[in-house]
Amino acid sequence: MLQPELDKIVYFQSEEPRVYESAHPKSLLHSIVEDGKALDSLKNQHVYSSDQFDRNTILQLLRLAAKYEANPERFSAPLQGKILISAFYEPSTRTRLSFESAWHRLGGNIMSITDRSTTGIAKGESLSDVAEMFNSYGDCVVLRDSNDSSVKEMMDALRIPIINAGNGLDEHPTQALADLYTIFKWRPDLIQTKPENPIKLCIIGMPSRMRTVRSLLKLISVFPNAFETVTIVANEVEEKIFDQGQKEQLLNVGLNIEVTGGFSNAIKSADVIYINAIAWEGNTFKEYGADYKLSASSPLKAQAIVLHPLARGEELCTSLDDTSHNWYFSQARGAVFLRQALLTCLLHRTDRVLDII
Ligand code: CP
Repeated sequence: MLQPELDKIVYFQSEEPRVYESAHPKSLLHSIVEDGKALDSLKNQHVYSSDQFDRNTILQLLRLAAKYEANPERFSAPLQGKILISAFYEPSTRTRLSFESAWHRLGGNIMSITDRSTTGIAKGESLSDVAEMFNSYGDCVVLRDSNDSSVKEMMDALRIPIINAGNGLDEHPTQALADLYTIFKWRPDLIQTKPENPIKLCIIGMPSRMRTVRSLLKLISVFPNAFETVTIVANEVEEKIFDQGQKEQLLNVGLNIEVTGGFSNAIKSADVIYINAIAWEGNTFKEYGADYKLSASSPLKAQAIVLHPLARGEELCTSLDDTSHNWYFSQARGAVFLRQALLTCLLHRTDRVLDII
C-alpha cells in the first residue's frame, strides 16, 4: 500500500486557547440567579437598539449565554422546526455566521440572502412588502443594512421578530451584548450593584460614527457603577466625537466620561481597552484614528484585556494574538452563545432551556 509522504501531511493544533475554557462562563453563570420572567419580557419584541434592555433582562440574557457556553452540547433542539431569514446586505463575517451558527446549534433551519439585488427590492419592491412576505416564510429575521432606516421600515409590517444586525452608523445591539458578555465573563464581580473594584474602560473609537461603540456605550450606561472611568480616545474635537446629547446621556447616568487624544497615557492605566477603527459609511468603510495602534509592546497593564469588534486593520497588531491581553477572539466566539440566548427568548422557547419554569 502506498504511504503518504510525511512532509505532505499537515497537522493542526487542536488545543483551544485558555481564554475559551468553560471556567469563565461558569463563573458568570453562578453569579446570576435565574429569573425566567425577565426573559419573558423579550417576547414579541423586535431587537432594534441597546436602549431597550434593562439591567435584569441583560443579566438574564448573559446568564443564558453562559449556560449555553458552559454546556455547548447540552441543548441542541430548542428551535427545531423554526426558520431564520438571514438578510445581510453589507459585508459580514462574524455577525452573519455567528447568528447562523447559533440558529443551527439550536436545531433550526435557515434561509440566507446576501445580496438585495436577488430579491424584489431590485424591482423597486418596498421593504414593508418584503416584510409581509417574510411573515409567511420564516419565524425570525436578522437584518444588516447600511441604510439606518431599513430595520424600522420593516418592523411595522412584521409579525415575527427582527434583529438589527448593524444599521448604517446607528446601532449594533447584539455586538454590544457580546462585548458586555465578554467583560462580565472576565470579571463577574462587576455585575454587583456596587462593585468593590470598578474598572477603567478605554474606548479608542468614535461614538458618533461607530455603531458598535454607540451601542456599547448605551449598554454600559445600565451598569455605571462597574466603571470607574470611561475614557474615549479620539483625535477630533468633541463636537465630532459625540452626536448631539450623546455625552450628556452618559454623564446623566453617572458615568465618569473622559475624552482625550493622549493614546499612550490612556492605555497605560486601562483595565479594558476597546479598540475599533472602521466605520461603515454608505457603501464603503472609513477608518478613524490611524495613529492609534496596539501591539504586544504597547504599555498595557499586565492584567488588561483588549476587545475589538473586528474586522481589524493596522490598529490591532497580530503580535497581541498570543498574549493574555487577547480577549477579542473570545469576544467573537462568545457572540455565538449570546445570540443563541437571545434567539431562544425571541422565539418563545425558554421553557426548554431554563432550570426553573
Ligand atoms: N463585529 C462585526 O459586526 O463583524 P462583522 O462585520 O464581520 O459582522
